[in-house]
Amino acid sequence: MIREEFALSEWHGPFDAATQARALAALEKGQVLYFPGLAFPLGENEREFLDPALTDGKAKNISLNHTTGKLQGTSAAGEKAERLAAMIERFGAGATRLVEDLLPGYAGLERARTSYRPVEVEDRPYSVIQDDRLLHIDAFPSRPMQAGRRILRFFSNVAPSGSRCWEVGEPFEDFARRFAPRVKPHLPGQSWLFARLGVTRGQRSAYDETMLSLHDAAKRDSRYQKNAPHTALDFPPGSSWLVYTDQVLHAALKGEFALEQTFHLDIAKMAEPQRAPIKVLERLTGRRLA
Ligand SMILES: [Fe+2]
Repeated sequence: MIREEFALSEWHGPFDAATQARALAALEKGQVLYFPGLAFPLGENEREFLDPALTDGKAKNISLNHTTGKLQGTSAAGEKAERLAAMIERFGAGATRLVEDLLPGYAGLERARTSYRPVEVEDRPYSVIQDDRLLHIDAFPSRPMQAGRRILRFFSNVAPSGSRCWEVGEPFEDFARRFAPRVKPHLPGQSWLFARLGVTRGQRSAYDETMLSLHDAAKRDSRYQKNAPHTALDFPPGSSWLVYTDQVLHAALKGEFALEQTFHLDIAKMAEPQRAPIKVLERLTGRRLA
C-alpha cells in the first residue's frame, strides 16, 4: 500500500499511541499518510484567494517565511497581502501542530517555508528539470541538506472542486539502484565555491550532489518516465497528506489551489534512520556521503 489512511478531522491531538506508531512506521517506510477528512477551511473573506492571478506570474508558488513574515511570489499588496499571509500562516501553524502531535518523536523539527499553489499544474510550461509533472524526488539546488536532513511535506487541497492528482513511483532503494551508476562525481571545490558565492545556503555535501543528480537523471530519462512503475493517487478537495518527498518518487499531474508546509528533520530524530535516503545511498555505493 502506497497510501496509509487516517480518519482525522481535527488539526491537533491527542492521538492514541497505536495511531502515532502506525503513522511513524508508514511515513518512514515511504508511504503517503492520507487524511481524507482533514480539510483546511477558508474564511468568507479568504475565498477571493482562490484566484490564479494571485501569483506574480514569475514564481510557481507564493511562499511565506514564517520567521521573517516575508511573503514572496504574489501580486497581492497592502491589506490583501496581509490577509493572504495570515491565511498561509494559519495553515502552516496548523500543519506544524498536527505533525508534532501525530509524530511526537519529531518534536522540534524545523518548520521551513509555507507555500500556496494557486496555479493549475497541468497548464504551466516548464523546462524538463523544473517539470514536477515528471517523477522525481525533491532535491533543491540552493538548499543543501548536508548530512541527510529530511524533507517532509504536508499538503492540503483547498480547491472548491477537482482533485490534486499525483503519481508515485517505485521504492527509493529500487530507484537509487537503477540510477546510481549515472550519478556525477562530487566536486568539493565546486561546493565550497557555490557556498562562498551565495549560490547555496551552506555547502553542498556529496549527499546533496547525489540527490540533485538523481533528481535530474530521472526527469531527463523519458523511457524511465514512460515505463517506470506508477501508481495514481488522487487527493480530493478537503483532503490532506504528508510525505517524505526526498524519498517518495512523485509527480504532480493536475490540480490547483493547494497549501503546503515543508519541514526539515535530522535523521537522528527518525525511529529508523537507516531508511533515510542518505543511509540507503551510502549502503548502495559503499561511500560516506557527508
Ligand atoms: Fe516534488
